[in-house]
Amino acid sequence: MIGGEIMCGITGYVGKRNAAEIGLKLLEKLVYRGYDSAGFASLDGANFSVMKAVGHMDRLYDKLNGSKPKGGAAICHTRWATHGIPTERNAHPHSDCAGRYYVVHNGVIENYKTLKRALEASGHVFASETDTEVLAHLFEETRKTTPSLFEAVRLGLQQVQGTFGLVLISSETPETLYVAARSSPILLGKGDGEYFIASDPRALILYTRDVEELGDDQIAVVTAKGHRVYDLDGVARSLKAQRIEWSEDEAEKGGYRHFMEKEIFSGPEAVANSIRGRLLIKEGNARLGGLNVDGVLERLSSAKRIYLSGCGTSYYAALFGQYLLKQAGIPAEAGIASEFRYSPPIFDPDDVVVLMSQSGETADTIGFLREAKKKVLTLGIVNVVGSKIARDTDAGIYQHISPEVGVASTKAFISQITILSLFTLLLARQRGMPVENGQMIAQSIARVPDLMQSMLSDEGWIKHIADLSQKYVNYTNFLYLGRGINYPTALEGALKLKEVSYIHAEGYPAGEMKHGPIAMIDENFVSVFIVPENGHRQRVFSNMEEIRARYGPVLAVATAGDLEVNEHADDIITIPPIEDTLSPILATVPLQLFAYKVGTAKGINVDMPRNLAKSVTVE
Ligand code: G6P
Repeated sequence: MIGGEIMCGITGYVGKRNAAEIGLKLLEKLVYRGYDSAGFASLDGANFSVMKAVGHMDRLYDKLNGSKPKGGAAICHTRWATHGIPTERNAHPHSDCAGRYYVVHNGVIENYKTLKRALEASGHVFASETDTEVLAHLFEETRKTTPSLFEAVRLGLQQVQGTFGLVLISSETPETLYVAARSSPILLGKGDGEYFIASDPRALILYTRDVEELGDDQIAVVTAKGHRVYDLDGVARSLKAQRIEWSEDEAEKGGYRHFMEKEIFSGPEAVANSIRGRLLIKEGNARLGGLNVDGVLERLSSAKRIYLSGCGTSYYAALFGQYLLKQAGIPAEAGIASEFRYSPPIFDPDDVVVLMSQSGETADTIGFLREAKKKVLTLGIVNVVGSKIARDTDAGIYQHISPEVGVASTKAFISQITILSLFTLLLARQRGMPVENGQMIAQSIARVPDLMQSMLSDEGWIKHIADLSQKYVNYTNFLYLGRGINYPTALEGALKLKEVSYIHAEGYPAGEMKHGPIAMIDENFVSVFIVPENGHRQRVFSNMEEIRARYGPVLAVATAGDLEVNEHADDIITIPPIEDTLSPILATVPLQLFAYKVGTAKGINVDMPRNLAKSVTVE
């Protein structure tokens, strides 16, 4: 595999060039992972330069004020706080008592309290509240009784429970970096007499495309000339050399102001990529190659129930899947991964679990996967190739969209629900859906990219959304309402607004609104209805009237040409007519764009909203 996504960003360099400068250049590519604080340690001979700053890594550059710390080895880190608030003290790198070892780390040391207590009892003094600092002191301690620093790291890590991707730099061996991994990606990039290290390939492609990924419980000893790899028992291992094929451009903004904007506008391409080669229009079916292994298709055809799960946006995709599968007559249930763990489904051996995850690295989803795997067949719908969920599920479907960089998920959600439409078509056809119905659905899915593109190429439509964002930007409360398959759309629309504008927004089933939320409605509380043309829209119209009777402003996302909706809404955003089951794909687009426009109108950095991280790898 090549990389996954994980909290925080790690980089390192050893070679002839200015190590701190290169390490920080690599780190710039990873700030979207966490930007509570940033720091580096570089070595010139046996002299350390260490600097840390709270906030975005620009603060670190401000502090450097143009100076370049000398030296050919450096480690860098950008942090998303887990243990300890974001302060300079808690920023990485962390060191031992003597200041001989500096460590940057991703992951969570689960037994850090026990280790810390034992180390404190032996006289170690801690400077931070982090779990990471334990590592530096632990290596200092094990070094007392080991013949080399490598052995100290190896024996130290044997005591560690939890996950780590880490790099250690030491004045004891100034031209060597020690890199280790367990359930947290770390890649080595080979240059010409130099090595680059990063927790994400997106950074490495700045300098090299020849990479090797460290496996679980492996340690690499890296110098400018080469590296040796061992497992925690000290047995030598070798890594598989890989070449990254992504273009640099794919991970860049491509002319848009923000990644989020670029990613919303690449929705049609995301759908096209997710369905390419998979839609069999003539047969009225879907071919999902990733499921065509080890009897998976047979097991799906007799599955008693499909359990879908994920976190955040991916959970809303799972919920969409539940509605869709049930409409096709297939028993299905969606649950939030972190809750499914505590109230797990009562599995029948013939059930199947489907995990949704853009990154494939979300800890709560992995936690549920671990439990489900013991009992039933598990499948993943994942974007990042080779990520943990992709590796650990029995089979799966890749989203095949290029990396999503904006922290708030947009194109990935669109792609997830498209793939669930293919998945449902396949299962429904397995269970006797007539070929004609399958053909109709396949044809409708095939039209989605063009229909989406027709919205996103319509300047008038985009301007209308921009105008509405100006009109509504100062409201502080929003209710997003939908019925049936558009209830998950309402949840996702509200989540987007919350994430990128910090405005309070709630998604609710439209029919349930009168059982509570209606108490909040007044002229300052906006309701956004997702009300495409379908059999139950009259009921939604009634809900809209209930809001208007209480002076609440009503914004509706409705089908173009539906004149009736005019009577019930103050403002309308239209989407092209489409089969009801596919309407969430189209209705999500204006909701994403509206959130984006409101967020940017408020001056928020929508690509990196405060407190959020692209991939949450802690439970
Ligand atoms: C984080 C992100 C969300 C995302 C969720 C699940 O909370 O901020 O945007 O929906 O994780 O991520 P996944 O990679 O599993 O889809």
